[in-house]
Amino acid sequence: MSSHGTPIPMTSRANGPLTGTANVPGDKSISHRSLILGALCVGRTEVTGLLEGQDVLDTAKAMQAFGAEVTQHAPGHWTIDGVGVGGFAEPDQVIDCGNSGTGVRLIMGCMATSPISATFTGDASLNKRPMARVTDPLALFGAQAVGRSQGRLPMTIVGAANPVPVRYATPVPSAQVKSAVLLAGLNAPGDTVVIEREATRDHSERMLAGFGAQITTQDTPEGHVITLTGQPELQAQSIVVPRDPSSAAFPVCAALITPGSDVLVPNIGLNPTRAGLYTTLREMGADLVYENLREEGGEPVADLRARFSPDLKGIEVDPARAASMIDEYPVLSVVASFAEGKTYMPGVKELRVKESDRIDAMAKGLRLNGVDVDEGEDWWTVHGLGHGNVPGGATVVTELDHRIAMSFMVMGFASNAPVSLDDGQPIATSFPIFEPLMAALGAQIDRSDT
Ligand code: S3P
Repeated sequence: MSSHGTPIPMTSRANGPLTGTANVPGDKSISHRSLILGALCVGRTEVTGLLEGQDVLDTAKAMQAFGAEVTQHAPGHWTIDGVGVGGFAEPDQVIDCGNSGTGVRLIMGCMATSPISATFTGDASLNKRPMARVTDPLALFGAQAVGRSQGRLPMTIVGAANPVPVRYATPVPSAQVKSAVLLAGLNAPGDTVVIEREATRDHSERMLAGFGAQITTQDTPEGHVITLTGQPELQAQSIVVPRDPSSAAFPVCAALITPGSDVLVPNIGLNPTRAGLYTTLREMGADLVYENLREEGGEPVADLRARFSPDLKGIEVDPARAASMIDEYPVLSVVASFAEGKTYMPGVKELRVKESDRIDAMAKGLRLNGVDVDEGEDWWTVHGLGHGNVPGGATVVTELDHRIAMSFMVMGFASNAPVSLDDGQPIATSFPIFEPLMAALGAQIDRSDT
């Protein structure tokens, strides 16, 4: 999806309480990895609950371009007939990863240790994002990258014909970088080691183990040391993708700020590397309960019940938790607008290199809608106004960023005047059913700019 269609303006407005059950789509991180690891097995991997957002569809197309057979049988039900570790074919065409940083970085990783070349591109957002964080460690395996200035896409990766294993300490807390190195390590002989100072989402490690790779994680004074033994024969799997805690954040946060609301969001994966938002919201005084807490496929899962929370308080968010809620700061800043007092969010430099500069995009939109924000390079503070006091009334520029778009739609459910988007199209990258799902809870979102 490198070209962008006609913008779709959207407006949300107060429409009474939100009530009912919100079945959010499958996890985006796990969906990408299911397709990629399925392509790296010999045999048929079966996936149910796959997120059919544009980002994941672009990864499916890419896996086909590298030689895997990827088939949709029914909504969410897909199979991948893989080519095996080291079996990727050279694609005939440029690989277009659309809006997806996860897609492009993981795919670069898994082709970089095969003797093939591939050229990658994306939409205007992806083509601005830094890729050197991935191509630097891939060069250690023997791969070469030629892109635009400052390591931007479009970019060609020439895979290493004789890859060597790598020991790499990630300089930024990034699961995408960690995963790219691990996926490259699959086709290098011997042990590839990744060391991360702060734990980031560990889906790649869990899923590689599930597909039969030899992979261990040790906590040491250096950080988490992850060791993968190269050239395994991965075994095809049946995968049930859990629902996405990052998508659940939108109906949950909408319920917390909208008077009278009571929303149940079932079956949410609460892997500790993903669940930081929910700890933070509880510290702010959110009426958020985990019901039916259980284990599924080795992961903690619960049904989340969120009710209108009249006494939200601003807090200082623990920076040690940043990686576990990195995608949720935009919608947290909306909740913070409805809390009493300041919410200070330190240690979040990574927000500046997401689908948009998320501190800048949120600060601009919040200010336009009457909320004060202070910001620095790696922190920001939202000055909460309390329930009933958030003006709204402005149109926000979504900058090709799905989470900016959905965050401001959530704001409009509880602000005094409606909130509009210049373009709600990016929502489809991760949450294609956002509008009907929110409408079923009683929310009003119109496809118009007033
Ligand atoms: C993701 C990792 C995160 C996150 C992204 C998905 C993943 O990015 O923001 O939405 O699936 O590995 P970083 O690892 O770059 O922080």
